[in-house]
Parts: sequence; C-alpha cells; structure tokens
Amino acid sequence: MRAVVQHGTGGPEVLKVEERPEPERGEGEVLVRVEAVAVPFYETQLRAGLLPAGSEATVFGHEAAGIVVEADDESLVGRRVVTMSYTGGAYAEVVAASQYTVVPEGVSAEQAVVAAVPAAVALALFRTAKVVEGETVLVEAASGAIGGYLTRLAKTHGARVVTTAGGGKAIPDADVVLDHNDPEWRKNVPDCVHVVFESIGGARAAELTAKLAPRGRILAYGLLSGEFPAYSVASLVARGLTLIGFGGPDAYGKDVAAARDEALGLVADGTLTPVIDRTYPLAEAAAAHERVESREGVGKVVLVP
Ligand SMILES: NC(=O)c1ccc[n+]([C@@H]2O[C@H](COP(=O)([O-])OP(=O)(O)OC[C@H]3O[C@@H](n4cnc5c(N)ncnc54)[C@H](OP(=O)(O)O)[C@@H]3O)[C@@H](O)[C@H]2O)c1
Repeated sequence: MRAVVQHGTGGPEVLKVEERPEPERGEGEVLVRVEAVAVPFYETQLRAGLLPAGSEATVFGHEAAGIVVEADDESLVGRRVVTMSYTGGAYAEVVAASQYTVVPEGVSAEQAVVAAVPAAVALALFRTAKVVEGETVLVEAASGAIGGYLTRLAKTHGARVVTTAGGGKAIPDADVVLDHNDPEWRKNVPDCVHVVFESIGGARAAELTAKLAPRGRILAYGLLSGEFPAYSVASLVARGLTLIGFGGPDAYGKDVAAARDEALGLVADGTLTPVIDRTYPLAEAAAAHERVESREGVGKVVLVP
C-alpha cells in the first residue's frame, strides 16, 4: 500500500510517500480501507518536533475514516468507521485500529473524519465546563475545528460567545470575534467572562485571569502558540478561579472516546456542521501540511488516498 512516512522532524518535506506492507489486524482491531484522513494542527507540531513525536520512519497520522474490510465482528465488514490512533498509521491506504466509531448513514468519510475527534473533544470540554444559560464564554481559535464546534454548542445552550480567529475570518454563531494575530487582543475581551476555553496558551494567556468573573473556569486544552498558558496560582486564588487541565488518553481521553458516537450523531442531524477547507491526494501530504501551517483557510484539511 502507499503510505506517508515521517523521516525525522522538520518541515513538511520530512513526510515521504512510500510503499509499505499493509498493517496486520490485531485482536479487537478493525482493518479499514481508508477514504479520508484529517490533518489537524497538532500534527504539524508533531512533525516539526514541537510536541513529543513518534519514532522515526513510522507511518504518520492519527485520524482516518473508511470502510471496514476485516473485523472480529463480521457485521462491521462493509460499514464506514472513523478511527483514532495515538501511535500513528493514518496517512495510508489501509489502517488497523482498536479505537473506531461507526459513521451514521448520510455522513461522508470526509465529514466524519473532520468531526469525530474535534467535535467529541468539544462536547467533552463543554460538559466539563458546565456552561449555564446566560453565561459569557471565551472560545479561543474558533476558526479551528474544536473552537468552531465549541462556539456552536455554547450558542445553542444560550451563552454569549466571545471568540478569536486569525485576521478577519468570520465565525458563525459568535457574538464577538477578536483577531488573535493582534498581540494585544486579550485587552479587548469583555470583563466578567465565566468560562475560557484556552487553546492558544503562552505567557500572555495569564492576562485573561483579570477578565474572568469571580469563580470563573479555565479549561486549558491546547498549546497552539507552542507553549502552555502561564497562570500564577496567586491570580487564580485572588478571584477563586478554577483551572482544569483537559487532555491525556487516561483522563479526558476517555470522555472524548465516549463522546465520538454522539458527536457524529450531531453531525448527522445537522446540529454540528463540519467545515472542510481543502482536500489533497495522500501523495501531497506535505502540501497539506503547508496549507494548515499557512493558516489561510477555515476548516480542516483532508487527505484522500
Ligand atoms: N486536550 C485534548 O484532548 C485535545 C484534543 C485534540 C486537540 N487538542 C488541541 O486543540 C487545539 C485546537 O485543535 P483543532 O483540531 O481545533 O485545530 P485545527 O482545526 O487544526 O485549527 C487550527 C486553529 O489554530 C489556530 N492557530 C494556529 N496557530 C495559532 C497561534 N499561534 N495562535 C493562535 N491561534 C493559532 C488557527 O487559527 P487561525 O488560522 O484563524 O489563525 C485555527 O483556528 C490544538 O492545540 C490541539 O493540539 C487538544
């Protein structure tokens, strides 16, 4: 099969298309002929070596959708599933996966692969935050998949939604859109925000503690800037704030896995709308990474074998 293999860390050119043996299905795994692969932002950070990366010369990628060709449960054969792997293998014509979710009728492979993980993350984050009608929430990077789904969920639950996006991008459902490319954007956040969905991080994230209402909640789940947010305990204590670190396969990863079915159901019934920026052939994985890093688009980039 053709697969995209990572050779060391660096620019998009470290991703090379090669012939590889098809993976063998382990017990409990499904073997899937891939129809679509998502290219989320964190994969560009993994490839560049900004996050702890997989081992050299492994098939890259984590989120794929396609048709089951082999499974312990014969009734799964021929069904469309979306798969998630923490150890890579998704940028390929065939994947073997233990974590998979059956895609509902009417949802395409492209839609499923750009929704299953980020919409499930958004659902799990939203529930953890316990947003109440009438509260004001700040969704950082609402131009991204998780941020976009969080914005929709918050709006449909009666919250006022302040968002950020890169210069001039329109965010459906947002009450306010701030440009996170302006280093001073946090100064323009309205006072008394009840919940911050923090994905940008960095030293200046600490400025937001002054914008939170007493007993406000911060859900830290991403580091798009490349750094974790740097809050001081003193600033949290001074306003009675709660900081929740959201991540890791052994903690919130379980909530995310449990939410994937529901996330796809919300896509099927039209509550959540997956947004696809561009589709590239698998062989152009490097160009797909360049597109994600350009930050010119809105929505996910997808690879098609
Ligand atoms: N904790 C968890 O369980 C979990 C799970 C999955 C993902 N994540 C994290 O969630 C975050 C969002 O993921 P996603 O899949 O929604 O991303 P995505 O769909 O790939 O979109 C990327 C987003 O990042 C923004 N961005 C990129 N670099 C930025 C920077 N330096 N400063 C501000 N914004 C920047 C882009 O904004 P513009 O292009 O508009 O500028 C865009 O909104 C990532 O950090 C990812 O690692 C966490």
